[in-house]
Amino acid sequence: MTTHDKDRQEFLRLAGLATPMALRVAVTLGLPDRLSGEGAAAVDLAAELGQSPLALDLLLGHLTTLGVLERTSTGYRTTEYGAKLRADAGNGLAGLLDMNAAGGRGELAFVELAHSIATGQAGYIRRYGKDFWADLAENPHLRETFDRQMTQRFLTQVPRFVAGFDWSRFGTLVDVGGGHGSLLAAILKANPSMRGHLVDLAPTAAVAEKEMREQGLEDRAEVTAGSFFDPLPGGADAYLLSDILHDWDDEHAHRVLARCAEAAHPAGRVLVIEAVGGLGAQTEWDLVMLVLYGGRERRLDELRELAAAHGLVFDSVTTLTEQRSLLEFRLQDIP
Ligand SMILES: C[S@@+](CC[C@H](N)C(=O)[O-])C[C@H]1O[C@@H](n2cnc3c(N)ncnc32)[C@H](O)[C@@H]1O
Repeated sequence: MTTHDKDRQEFLRLAGLATPMALRVAVTLGLPDRLSGEGAAAVDLAAELGQSPLALDLLLGHLTTLGVLERTSTGYRTTEYGAKLRADAGNGLAGLLDMNAAGGRGELAFVELAHSIATGQAGYIRRYGKDFWADLAENPHLRETFDRQMTQRFLTQVPRFVAGFDWSRFGTLVDVGGGHGSLLAAILKANPSMRGHLVDLAPTAAVAEKEMREQGLEDRAEVTAGSFFDPLPGGADAYLLSDILHDWDDEHAHRVLARCAEAAHPAGRVLVIEAVGGLGAQTEWDLVMLVLYGGRERRLDELRELAAAHGLVFDSVTTLTEQRSLLEFRLQDIP
């Protein structure tokens, strides 16, 4: 094969949509789970799942080419490799690919990337007629799958976030948009003298509250259901924004930072955990943030500038993991 042919093939491998969509449809239909063990014949599976027998067989054929399935004397079954796509594989992949879950549904907004590039706005709104957060608010399954995805993505990183920064300097920490609270719980457990307060939207806050109880932290962790665009619990030593600012355009990011700055006491700190452009953030995620939310992975100078508008002075940056940094801001001294 000539270099010209190789390059052409490589580009088509990168850009072709058939395989990514085949994997997503397979997971959405639960094929890796259903075809585990004995497997099934295409025609029976089609009847069971209400699919076209002919078309389903084409999909199963391509999944076999990919090594996700293998042929048996009577039909198809899931391979060991394909089992990594099962809902119970424990790696979060199924949640990311299932088109009925928040992750998979969100990715489909990439068909609107051209619109996002032209306008700077989220493709999600154009595809679904509402923004990501409104969609989650209207659909509890999307909300649950998103929150689970958030917890799953940090499972291996949380211990490094906890170990990589001196949290014990703070008596009280407000985790703003803290999700189900896995990070706050880990920080509190590692620092017994600290108290925490998590703020998130109602359904997520309810699960976070349960999580804190289950972890035996109810005496040191408060949970408030509310929006970070409204006033935050006041007077804490530190306000943590973990993967929050990149979800928003500048206007909204300013509003969240303003709430943190006004809530913190004069010696308080605002801590921002983000994938920072130039410090490990992946360009691919710039596009994901743009398409889903109209946000982006900002560079250090952009984050400094955003914060400065609210009297927040950049103090230091700590590398937590390959992809996440912690930026510390203090309130400007009042002369
Ligand atoms: C990307 S997740 C990050 C969650 C968590 N901080 C973490 O790092 O795992 C964004 C979080 O912001 C929350 N959120 C979105 N809009 C919000 C709002 N208006 N007020 C409070 N929380 C909000 C979401 O519910 C979600 O938990």
